[in-house]
Amino acid sequence: MHVVILGGNSGIGAALTTYYLSCGAMVSVFRRSALAGAPATTMAQQTANPALRHYLYQPQQLEQTSAPLQESLATVFSQPVDFVFCCLGLLHQAELQPEKSLRQLSAGNLRQAFEVNTILPALWLQAIWPFLPKSPQVKLCWLSAKVGSIGDNHSGGWHSYRASKAALNMLIRGAAIELKRQLPQVTLVALHPGTTDTEMSKPFQRNLPAGQLQSPAATAQRLATTVADLTPAQSGALLHWDGTVLPY
Ligand SMILES: NC(=O)c1ccc[n+]([C@@H]2O[C@H](COP(=O)([O-])OP(=O)(O)OC[C@H]3O[C@@H](n4cnc5c(N)ncnc54)[C@H](OP(=O)(O)O)[C@@H]3O)[C@@H](O)[C@H]2O)c1
Repeated sequence: MHVVILGGNSGIGAALTTYYLSCGAMVSVFRRSALAGAPATTMAQQTANPALRHYLYQPQQLEQTSAPLQESLATVFSQPVDFVFCCLGLLHQAELQPEKSLRQLSAGNLRQAFEVNTILPALWLQAIWPFLPKSPQVKLCWLSAKVGSIGDNHSGGWHSYRASKAALNMLIRGAAIELKRQLPQVTLVALHPGTTDTEMSKPFQRNLPAGQLQSPAATAQRLATTVADLTPAQSGALLHWDGTVLPY
């Protein structure tokens, strides 16, 4: 089995990596270069575990047709891929905090949320698209969020995060229609991982109902179980972590 993780520094992405390695899978991980001002190259990083490969990238490489990124993707997809998880997401960061009211909305915060929750995940999908014929049974799982469901929004707030995830869900839906025509064996879903104890949820864990917060390891295991059973008929859906369909 070969699994690709986009956004390897994510709490859930790291747990998925650990889980699949423990199952004997080969795992290729893309994460941003941590080096400020590092050149915009993408390099395969050898690790102590031969089943694990890290590839550094910078988000601006997704906006250009970056030769180093293309080379990395060609290398990764030279081994058939079974699953791709896109784990990029942004809820809070410095000045950016989920809005309790429309009064707190700002253009800057909206832009940041759309950049990480919508634009970069869409560009990742576009970047891997030409390589999909090499892995015709691949399952593409773009992590979204239940709070991005328009039909399920009964409490308001969190406008930037909700709107940017709703936009992601629409992009997944549209891309899945294209995939069905071009590569009907490929499955593409938006997947709500469930509330998970990562940096993203840390400030918002206090009032959660008992049992709702999962460890990253538990979430990884639950997601892996659910995605193993996905079929192309489910393509385009927004799925709860247990595989049930959420309303858009
Ligand atoms: N944790 C939860 O309770 C929860 C609930 C519902 C949905 N989700 C969704 O599940 C996914 C993973 O969540 P998580 O809790 O693992 O998040 P996390 O630990 O906060 O990780 C965030 C991820 O987003 C990427 N990222 C952040 N800012 C970025 C930027 N400016 N440019 C490019 N990449 C950026 C990081 O990339 P690098 O790896 O390159 O650093 C990292 O992979 C997200 O889509 C999130 O919205 C999480």
